Amino acid sequence: MNNWRRVYQNKIISAEQALKNVKSGDRVVIGHACGEPPTLVNALVARAPELTNVEIVHMVAMGPAKYAQPGMEKSFRHNALFVGGSTRKAVEGKRADFTPCFFSEIPRLFTNKILPVSVVLMQVTPPDEQGFCSYGVSADYTKAAAESARVVIAQMNNQLPRTSGTKIHLDAITYIVEQDEPLIELQPPSIGDLEKAIGENVASLIPDGATLQLGIGAIPDAVLLFLKEKRNLGIHSEMFSDGVVVLAEAGVVTNQRKNINKGKFVASFLMGTRKLYDFVNNNPNVELLPVDYVNDPYIIGQHDHMMSINSAIQVDLMGEVNAEMIGSRQFSGVGGQVDFVRGASRSMNGKSIIALPSTAAGGKISRIVCELDRGAAVTTSRNDVHYVVTEFGIADLRGKSIRERVYALIGISHPDFKGKLIADATEKGLI
Ligand code: COA
Repeated sequence: MNNWRRVYQNKIISAEQALKNVKSGDRVVIGHACGEPPTLVNALVARAPELTNVEIVHMVAMGPAKYAQPGMEKSFRHNALFVGGSTRKAVEGKRADFTPCFFSEIPRLFTNKILPVSVVLMQVTPPDEQGFCSYGVSADYTKAAAESARVVIAQMNNQLPRTSGTKIHLDAITYIVEQDEPLIELQPPSIGDLEKAIGENVASLIPDGATLQLGIGAIPDAVLLFLKEKRNLGIHSEMFSDGVVVLAEAGVVTNQRKNINKGKFVASFLMGTRKLYDFVNNNPNVELLPVDYVNDPYIIGQHDHMMSINSAIQVDLMGEVNAEMIGSRQFSGVGGQVDFVRGASRSMNGKSIIALPSTAAGGKISRIVCELDRGAAVTTSRNDVHYVVTEFGIADLRGKSIRERVYALIGISHPDFKGKLIADATEKGLI
């Protein structure tokens, strides 16, 4: 019997026992997105009556986030590094906090002890012959959290896909909770005519041999629909989803023209359905790597023809992008948007693309605006922005003056708002 097998047996405990290691005042980091370990999070929430002031740090929370629900305030305080559907109300209601940060820098928040980690709750696969477990669908910041935590609690789940790229040895895990259960899934978004029109415009910017980063949602998925005739695309993206599997199976994504990690799909986390999880399971061509590598603009920029595709809430006429706030309400976060905008701008023939519908609220609000809404933050600055795309066309802002930007952006705005935008831009002295 290998040494690790005996050690392994000694580390197996129940979720209830394992979670007794969380103390009042601790900071607990939860494995990211669909990598969240549901059994461990439920066992933590069950301890609410015994705990006070436990900070729970998470980026995209894909589970129900019971720790952030009303009545939990005394026990838990959620610190969101990105606001998602299940944590938005808590942040809005001041029961939870939001910390702005680039995705690429989150690992250093943990390892440099800016946010010292007490306990990490994560999922791993069963060990291989050498005692190494795969991080499954979340290497991003989960690896850094595991390497800096006082206590590492891992849910060992046979249903977690075994991805390559990032592994943790059993020696580095404090407690193992053996519990098989289905992963959290993200269903593909519904794609309508609007998203298709935007997707087609974006796809027209993408050459054969390009390497792609895709954000989350209907627009990135709509872009993929129009890439079926392309050749030799590559993926280097903080995450990818089911849409990429379709293109891979069609032979469109080969990763053969990438300058680095050639032949590999590179991501730091995965969100999708079982179809995606089956595709990546034991697939030697898929590498899940920590986000301080994947989202490092200097790494991203080493790919020629790097294309980053992300969305936004609104864009002002100078090219400032708000991708995360609706007025003063924090809707999401920067995530990897700026990491990839900057990486794409370092890339030979790279393009960063912000793609959004021209209006919101059923056409009542223009998303191309003279000024960002009061209270909103700038996510991507006017100095970083490159292409902005709507269903009405493409505005190339790089190297363009403010006056040129105003006309380019009004050119892709909804016809109902063009007159007002010109009047506002004139009044503000932009043109
Ligand atoms: N004014 C008022 N409401 C607006 C609005 C505006 N200008 N723009 C959007 N909204 C509302 C929409 O009506 C929608 O409301 P609903 O949920 O009630 O339907 C909601 O905001 C979301 O808009 P939508 O366009 O459907 O969002 P999306 O799912 O396509 O996501 C972002 C767009 C920008 C929110 C998303 O891409 C994001 O969070 N980005 C973060 C930064 C990033 O790109 N990171 C990289 C990937 S992590």
